[in-house]
Amino acid sequence: MKNPNLNSVLNKEEFDKRDIIYMLSLTDKNEVENLYYRANEVRKEFCGDDVHLRGIIEFSNYCEQDCLYCGLRISNDALPRYRMTKDEILATVEHIHKAKIFTVVLQSGEDFSYTKEFISDLIREIKLNYGLAITLSLGERGFEEYLEWKNAGADRYLLKHESANKKLYSAIHNKQSLDERIKHLVYLKSIGFQVGSGNIIGLPGQTPDDIADDILLCKSLINDMASFSPFIPSNDTPLCNVSKADVQLTLKTMAVARIVLKDAHIPSTTALGSLIEGGREKGLEVGANVVMPNYTPNPYRQNYKIYEGKICVTDDPLACSGCLKFKIESIGRKVGESFGHSLK
Ligand code: SAM
Ligand code: SF4
Ligand code: FES
Repeated sequence: MKNPNLNSVLNKEEFDKRDIIYMLSLTDKNEVENLYYRANEVRKEFCGDDVHLRGIIEFSNYCEQDCLYCGLRISNDALPRYRMTKDEILATVEHIHKAKIFTVVLQSGEDFSYTKEFISDLIREIKLNYGLAITLSLGERGFEEYLEWKNAGADRYLLKHESANKKLYSAIHNKQSLDERIKHLVYLKSIGFQVGSGNIIGLPGQTPDDIADDILLCKSLINDMASFSPFIPSNDTPLCNVSKADVQLTLKTMAVARIVLKDAHIPSTTALGSLIEGGREKGLEVGANVVMPNYTPNPYRQNYKIYEGKICVTDDPLACSGCLKFKIESIGRKVGESFGHSLK
C-alpha cells in the first residue's frame, strides 16, 4: 500500500466523517483496489465466507406513497397493478422452503389493503408451517401494527432511510419526512426487530458528504442490516431523466460501509446486478454478504417495476436461487446454511 495516509485510515477501529469522505473520494485505481481489499478482509473477519440467501416475494405493487424515484409510486398510472392472495403468497413461501432458503422477505408498496390482521395471520402460518425467518418490508406502517407483527413472530424489518440529508429526503418524498422515518426505525429496533436501513446512491444533488451521513446514520441506529443500492431511473416518474448511479461510487460506498459498520449484513442488491453485468458478484467481493433471489411468481414478476432494466423479471421464478448459488460458489464463497440472523 503506497499511500501511508490511506493505510492508516483503512486500518482504524473507529471512523469519523472526514475518514469516510476521504475513502469515498479515492479515485486512484490502486487505492480503490486497496479499499476493496480491506472491505473484503473486514467482511471475512466479522461475517465469514457465508453468503445468506433471502427469498423475496414482492406481493403487491400498489403503493400509497409517491416517492419521486420509484416506479411503484401512486401517481404512476402507466403501471399495471397486482395484489397476491394469501394462498399465492404461501405457495411461493413453500418454494423458498423447498430450496433450503431460511429467510423469506415479504415486500410491497405501502399497501394498507393488507390489514394488520392479514399480515399477522400470514406471519403465523409461515412460522407454523415452514419455520422460516421473516423479514417485512412494507414501508411505513402504524406502530401498533409493527408490535403485533413482532408478537406474531416476524424477525426483521427493512425500511431504508433513503437519504440522511433532510432537504434531499423532502425533495424526493412528497409526503414523508426524514424525522418521521427515523422515529419508525428507532421504534422497530426498540421492540426487538432486527432492523435494516440504508440509502440510494446517485440521487440528484447527493454529495459524498451525504453518503458519509448515510453510513453514519446506519451506525448510530445500530442497524443489523444496511443496504446501499444504486439509483436506476424509472420511466413515468419525475426522475426518469436522471442518470443511473456511478458503478464505482456504488461499490466504494458498499466497501466503506462494510469497513465502518463491520458486522452489519450488507446485501449485494438486484439493482447493482441490473446496473452492471456481474454486479452482484462484484458487490460480494467488496464487502456484501447477502443476496436476495426473486421468487415473485408470474404474471406479477414483471410488474414490480421499481426501475427500468431490472434483471430476472423474464426468468423462471424458481431459477434465481440456483443461479445465485452458482455465482456465489464461482467466486469461492459458501451459501449460508443458517438463518443468518443479526450478528450484533
Ligand atoms: N415500499 C417499501 C419501502 O419503500 O420501504 C418497500 C418497497 S420499495 C420498492 C424498496 C426499495 O426500493 C426502497 O427502499 C428504495 O430504496 C428502492 N428503490 C425505489 N426506487 C428505486 C430506484 N429508482 N432505484 C433504486 N432503488 C429504488
Ligand atoms: Fe412506494 Fe416504497 Fe416505491 Fe416509495 S419506494 S413509492 S414507498 S414502493
Ligand atoms: Fe435471477 Fe440469475 S439471479 S436468473
